[in-house]
Amino acid sequence: MILSKQISLFEQPAEQVSVKDFSQPSSKKFPKTRYQGSKYKLLPWLKENLERIDFATVLDAFGGTGSVSFLFKQMGKTVYYNDILQFNFLTGKALIENNIETLNTNDISLLVSKDANFSYLNFIESTFPDIYYTNEENQWLDILLQNISKLKNEYKQALAFWALFQSCIIKRPYNLFHRKNLYVRTSEVKRSFGNKKTWDTPFEQHFFKFIKEANQAILDNKKRNKAYNQDAQQLNLSPDLVYIDPPYIPAKGTLTFYRDFYHFLEGMTDYHNWPKYIDFESKHKKLFSISSPWENKENITFAFKELLEKYKDSILAISYRIDGIPSIEEIKKALSYLNKKVTVQEIDYKYVLSTKSDSKEVLIIAE
Ligand SMILES: C[S@@+](CC[C@H](N)C(=O)[O-])C[C@H]1O[C@@H](n2cnc3c(N)ncnc32)[C@H](O)[C@@H]1O
Repeated sequence: MILSKQISLFEQPAEQVSVKDFSQPSSKKFPKTRYQGSKYKLLPWLKENLERIDFATVLDAFGGTGSVSFLFKQMGKTVYYNDILQFNFLTGKALIENNIETLNTNDISLLVSKDANFSYLNFIESTFPDIYYTNEENQWLDILLQNISKLKNEYKQALAFWALFQSCIIKRPYNLFHRKNLYVRTSEVKRSFGNKKTWDTPFEQHFFKFIKEANQAILDNKKRNKAYNQDAQQLNLSPDLVYIDPPYIPAKGTLTFYRDFYHFLEGMTDYHNWPKYIDFESKHKKLFSISSPWENKENITFAFKELLEKYKDSILAISYRIDGIPSIEEIKKALSYLNKKVTVQEIDYKYVLSTKSDSKEVLIIAE
């Protein structure tokens, strides 16, 4: 009874953008993100810098949460979203490629109800005890994941995955899966960080909230937007503009290993094959690591140069920081060899919450 009352809130049609609206970016808001390197907070600044450039098609080569792809969608562009991780690709499907589908009350009730005629596996419950979530929560995840395939539409499935990923992230200390640390949440100690109330809020409650957020973000910009799941260097696309926001390597400080930090979400995308990819020796049952030049101080400069060369016929917009490897000077030099005119925009202080950081955001535009 309570369930049907809650889920009736989700019946929201996708916003239609008419041709006359294209000069006015849609007022739709991208859902708040909790992802390393997300540009969500910088969207107004990016928009200010990108809207003076003339382009119709755009590749977001390292798409992550899809926040910047969404900005492009709002700007009326044809958007190609890409990310090497499958769980991010599903986000691209749900919020970028998908122009019209939303989850309705029937879909949601199918997702959260235990089907008495179905024999459910309990892989998460049996593999991850005391690691990320409680037993009861793990059981909920096992059921929900196996119910997703009952939705027949690929965009609806992707929307369900997106809401599930957000629910998993918000319930994790640090919003990551890099340690076996359920105890941080459950032990009776005084905490100086995080939000125990959010961690302890039942999955279902978070899930309903995120479905509502996703439904409200579905935007039809009348373009054939597309999501890809490849290494950015391997794509076969020639868009007018390529937006490049790769994993960032600070000259000093720690790196972000995306697949390692979010392995639990990546595993969930392939429930039945998940055990094949798990390193069972690891305390936190992560996936086997895959080395990437983008997460390696020695190899990133070469990877960067190769990528710039590959997309040399497009306008390039690179999100970067002043203390990265390679340095901004090295990037500018590589771009000048490609006969590009380069400008470097430093972020305006009004968009930065803390002025203490010595790692300022920049946007390098090469035309
Ligand atoms: C800094 S984040 C991008 C953040 C994104 N702009 C946003 O606003 O959410 C970098 C992304 O690059 C992805 N990635 C890493 N190596 C990649 C590769 N070789 N090809 C494509 N994507 C890659 C990671 O999975 C991660 O999501």
